[in-house]
Amino acid sequence: MKELNIRITLKIYEYEELNREDRELVNAACEATQRSYAPYSHFSVGAAARLADKTIVTGSNQENAAYPSGLCAERTTLFYANSRYPDQAVDTLAIAARNERGEYLEDPIPPCGACRQVMMETENRFKHPMRILLFGQKGIYELKNVGALLPLSFNASAME
Ligand code: THU
Repeated sequence: MKELNIRITLKIYEYEELNREDRELVNAACEATQRSYAPYSHFSVGAAARLADKTIVTGSNQENAAYPSGLCAERTTLFYANSRYPDQAVDTLAIAARNERGEYLEDPIPPCGACRQVMMETENRFKHPMRILLFGQKGIYELKNVGALLPLSFNASAME
């Protein structure tokens, strides 16, 4: 028997410690929560992607009466970014969420598994690390790439 330990590293920043570009992106993710359509969960998620050419694309969760037909903020944002700007890598993705009382979460929201898989595809597609900023009132988590969120991931190379 062998044991494999996979470590992930993340940094936690105070909002004031972020540089101007990261603050702008986090602000855009927070603003995007206002455009969420979440009449069922009352949980409003926003995401903002900064592309390689500095364009910022935002998105939010979009729910549906047929629950599984809705889509998370992360995938809404990445699918739009990748379809509108197919030649631009996503440099950084910021994510924020508000609860049913309209308050930003104290601790960052960890993206769901399906969104992590889509993030991984975007990172692999452009062969460019995608930084992730997870906004929480108590601190902002920074992950250097999607691998840090989804270790031992399934990707196209597994099918070779
Ligand atoms: N949601 C997101 O938008 N992103 C996540 O990473 C987790 C969950 C949305 C989906 C649904 O509209 C609501 O939050 C409650 O699950």
